[in-house]
Amino acid sequence: MPGAVIYYSRTGNTRRIAEAVARGAGARCLPVESAGEVKEELVFVGTPVHSFGPSKPILQFLRGRDWSGKRVALFCTYAGLGNRRTLRRMRKEVEGRGGKVVGEFSCRGRFKFLGKGRPTPEDERRAEEFGKAVAGSGA
Ligand SMILES: Cc1cc2nc3c(=O)[nH]c(=O)nc-3n(C[C@H](O)[C@H](O)[C@H](O)COP(=O)(O)O)c2cc1C
Repeated sequence: MPGAVIYYSRTGNTRRIAEAVARGAGARCLPVESAGEVKEELVFVGTPVHSFGPSKPILQFLRGRDWSGKRVALFCTYAGLGNRRTLRRMRKEVEGRGGKVVGEFSCRGRFKFLGKGRPTPEDERRAEEFGKAVAGSGA
């Protein structure tokens, strides 16, 4: 079964990246608010960086599920700082619940006066490549 891309996005940056990842992976794409049951074995999870960590809805999503038997690929968008810490915290939640993290991706997103024009078309292209590579790797 192709994968699922689950994301949270407050201002649209992470949604754009999530849609690009889903195109690349041939996966369905849906906001965390309507995630429901996720049957796919490959799950991409994306969040904006909020205060140097994952957003609350995504933390709740990661903590509320059993990830055993799942391959999970993580991504985030951020204005300037905290992408690595965010991905590390997400990884901890997944691995602590039995999941296997098979890929990570991040790029800048516009925030107020910072990062005008981001994510760029090149960011979206890279996100699509990321989706494709993860879905194709079988790792
Ligand atoms: C409440 C809040 C906290 C944020 N904290 C950070 C942060 O710690 N580091 C950072 O680089 N960007 C931070 N940002 C910027 C967002 O991570 C960035 O704009 C992201 O691309 C937004 O994604 P979205 O459009 O999908 O909501 C914050 C934004 C908001 C609204």
